Amino acid sequence: MQYAIDRNIMTSCDSLSQLEQYGELNPGGKCAVRINPGVGAGHHEKVVTGGKKTKFGISESDIDEIFKICDKYNLTIAGINQHIGSLFMEPTPYLDAVANLLRIAKRFDNLEFIDFGGGYGIPYHKLDDEKEYDMADFKKRLEPIIDSFVADYGKAPLFKSEPGRYCVAEGSVILGRVHATKDNSGHHFIGTDVGMNVLVRPSMYDSWHDIEILRVGKPVSRKELAPANVCGNICESGDLLCKDRPLPKAEKGDLVCVLDTGAYGYSMCSTYNSRPRPAEVLVKSDGSLQLIRKRETYEDLLKLM
Ligand SMILES: Cc1ncc(COP(=O)(O)O)c(C=O)c1O
Repeated sequence: MQYAIDRNIMTSCDSLSQLEQYGELNPGGKCAVRINPGVGAGHHEKVVTGGKKTKFGISESDIDEIFKICDKYNLTIAGINQHIGSLFMEPTPYLDAVANLLRIAKRFDNLEFIDFGGGYGIPYHKLDDEKEYDMADFKKRLEPIIDSFVADYGKAPLFKSEPGRYCVAEGSVILGRVHATKDNSGHHFIGTDVGMNVLVRPSMYDSWHDIEILRVGKPVSRKELAPANVCGNICESGDLLCKDRPLPKAEKGDLVCVLDTGAYGYSMCSTYNSRPRPAEVLVKSDGSLQLIRKRETYEDLLKLM
């Protein structure tokens, strides 16, 4: 918080105690508060960040306390924000949260901005023709809610949104190598170097990523599919990219391509099990390649010692 105050970076306080702390550090200052609009959404309970069961934001019932703390430290609330969760393909909960936030916003004078957060999903089931998030429909339903607020409020603060996944998820794939295959008690396993340290979403959230098996110089037919578990090289039974998924027969040396890994991929990647993190390669629009992050080495893993 002090770092942000020193650099005049707008800070959003997520609780009354944070707002109190902000007031102590920067009396007379200007900040935002994060509101919990009472509605949440997301692909897994671990990424739902609005509603009664989550740690995020200040509840509507505590709004009066915000004003008391502002009086005590002479603070100005420049904006309010929310983020109800991540990955929804249908906008109703988001629109409900927008309506709630705007109702609450009317209690604040002279807001400079109102930030509705992110969370718009992308189709992870592309191989099954899943449709994209319908932005046109979303816009059609969002605009009247905002227009009606502006008419009541008498002015239009800056309205913000914070899409993360929607912008980057589809921009990246992970390429790994098949190192072994085996059958254990009737279950087929394809052993790869794409462990849960490289992509944690499937083991952390049971997330689905489409997977393709590639063989250099020889296309792999998707006509004959059999259930397979694609696993990584980490010492956990949960180290699986997919469970009993119909996939083409993979052979040692094949490449495994995990789709839509641009969001919550590398940023959640770790060196768990002393596995160095992989390289990242940018594929430019003319098809040329650029190494944008080097593959980690064992020396890198030891460098903070
Ligand atoms: C406050 C806030 N805004 C925006 C985002 C982006 O969410 P998404 O990637 O689902 O759009 C997050 C993600 O955690 C967040 O915490």
